Amino acid sequence: MIWSFVLLGQALLFYFILTHRSRSKRDPPLDKGVIPWLGHALEFGKDAFKFLNRMKLKHGDIFTVRVAGRYVTVLLDPHSYDTVINDSDSLDFTRYAEVLMDRIFDLRLPHHQPAKVNALMKKHFLGGNFAALNCTMSRHLQASLRAERQNQKDWKDGELFSFSYSLLFKVGYLTLFRGEQNNNSTDPSSVYEEYKKFDGLLTKMARGTLKPEEKRTAQGVRRRLWELLAPAGLTEDSGSSPWLCDYRRLLQEGGADEETQKKAVLMQLWATQGNVGPAAFWLLGYLLTNPEALAAVKREFSRISERKTVETSPLDRPMDTPVFDSALDETLRLTAAPFITREVVQEKTLNMANGQEYLLRKGDRVCLFPFNSPQMDPEIHDEPQKFKYDRFLNQDGSLKKDFYKRGRLLKYYSMPWGAGTNGCVGKQFAINTIRQFVYVALTSYDLELCDPNARMPAVDASRYGFGMLQPEGDLPVRYKPKNTN
Ligand code: HEM
Repeated sequence: MIWSFVLLGQALLFYFILTHRSRSKRDPPLDKGVIPWLGHALEFGKDAFKFLNRMKLKHGDIFTVRVAGRYVTVLLDPHSYDTVINDSDSLDFTRYAEVLMDRIFDLRLPHHQPAKVNALMKKHFLGGNFAALNCTMSRHLQASLRAERQNQKDWKDGELFSFSYSLLFKVGYLTLFRGEQNNNSTDPSSVYEEYKKFDGLLTKMARGTLKPEEKRTAQGVRRRLWELLAPAGLTEDSGSSPWLCDYRRLLQEGGADEETQKKAVLMQLWATQGNVGPAAFWLLGYLLTNPEALAAVKREFSRISERKTVETSPLDRPMDTPVFDSALDETLRLTAAPFITREVVQEKTLNMANGQEYLLRKGDRVCLFPFNSPQMDPEIHDEPQKFKYDRFLNQDGSLKKDFYKRGRLLKYYSMPWGAGTNGCVGKQFAINTIRQFVYVALTSYDLELCDPNARMPAVDASRYGFGMLQPEGDLPVRYKPKNTN
């Protein structure tokens, strides 16, 4: 018996020595939480926004917290973000990305080639292929809506989140994952149904908190998605888009076998489809619940429709839509909440914009959470909880870019797309897709709330840190194609 106590005592001492950390003068404020090893993991995972606000009130713009055995330094001063974003020597993007790839997608690439992948993405999503990609997307969007309203003459009830997410997911899937030949027999709806189950488990997979039963479900859903996404072969005429063919070729050159390629393709499905549908939902939802904003956007769209000629649809041309752009920026300010995380691979002195200096320790992680500041910072955005469709418009109608904190002009006044080399390469494509979807929804349909007094649903607080937020529940709407009785 006495030996059991001695052993337990030694184990506790050993644990204390291994995990003990005290704050030195150069470190940011340290908050380990009361639970050994876990630290603040539970509170962080439950509602990161609330937790980080509490820490900010206690410690200020920079602090280090213990989260499941790791020390994470959180920086919440947008004036100081560039010191993290621009230092890829001391602060590494890839290591933490690889941890997430493994946890979420069960993916370990033999040769992770982030620079080559990034160049390939830019070629397809920004370069010469951009116009062709937009045309394909536009065609699929119109065909999907045509199919949706076939024979519909009367009002139809629906849920706005499900409607926006499923429709845009299918459009995105057909545009980016299928070739022109379309001889792939997979039904986009079945990919979406499986994807939704996967998406529902995503945050738990990322945190490694799946229960045994959920683990089995996740494994099953992943397997089905790998099979649904696997094209018959690699050539374009086998049913893959040019982008996907190029991506798989790069993976092959990096030594990835068939199995690994399938897992990587699922990761791309998430990166390219996980945010657009939710963003379109929030925007349409905010417009429907804010009549003044809806009227302003409709006015802008009707001016575009008037310019439409018989030969060309307005969707085929770039659209100059400052009111819509401001409403979208405002939506993303309120609902895009990614973490920007880096691993400290060599000790670094972080120079804050206010002149203070802090030491970042090797092996720790650094995390920026722009949702907290700048996006929801009352010093930058007046009444930050409120949707104001014209927040990003100047008096002359141009896009407003001048916002201030502590009297200084900000470089980052909203960061839905991330920043720097790892910022979103699909930004312009995403904006075009959302704009076209909202345009068609508002000009070809009568669309209204089932309950005229309905409010926007609350956000699912467990998703802070994972890109676009999603609602708890949905927003009931009804719609009918225009010009029918
Ligand atoms: C509203 C829609 C979207 C939002 C809010 C969004 C946001 C983001 C953010 C914040 C990142 C940076 C992630 C990080 O730092 O770890 C990112 C990366 C990325 N996004 Fe998007 N995205 C959207 C749509 C899209 C679309 C439509 C595509 C492709 C067609 C796309 C492709 C990518 C890719 C490939 C990356 C990885 C870049 C890299 O690591 O080099 N995104 N996105």
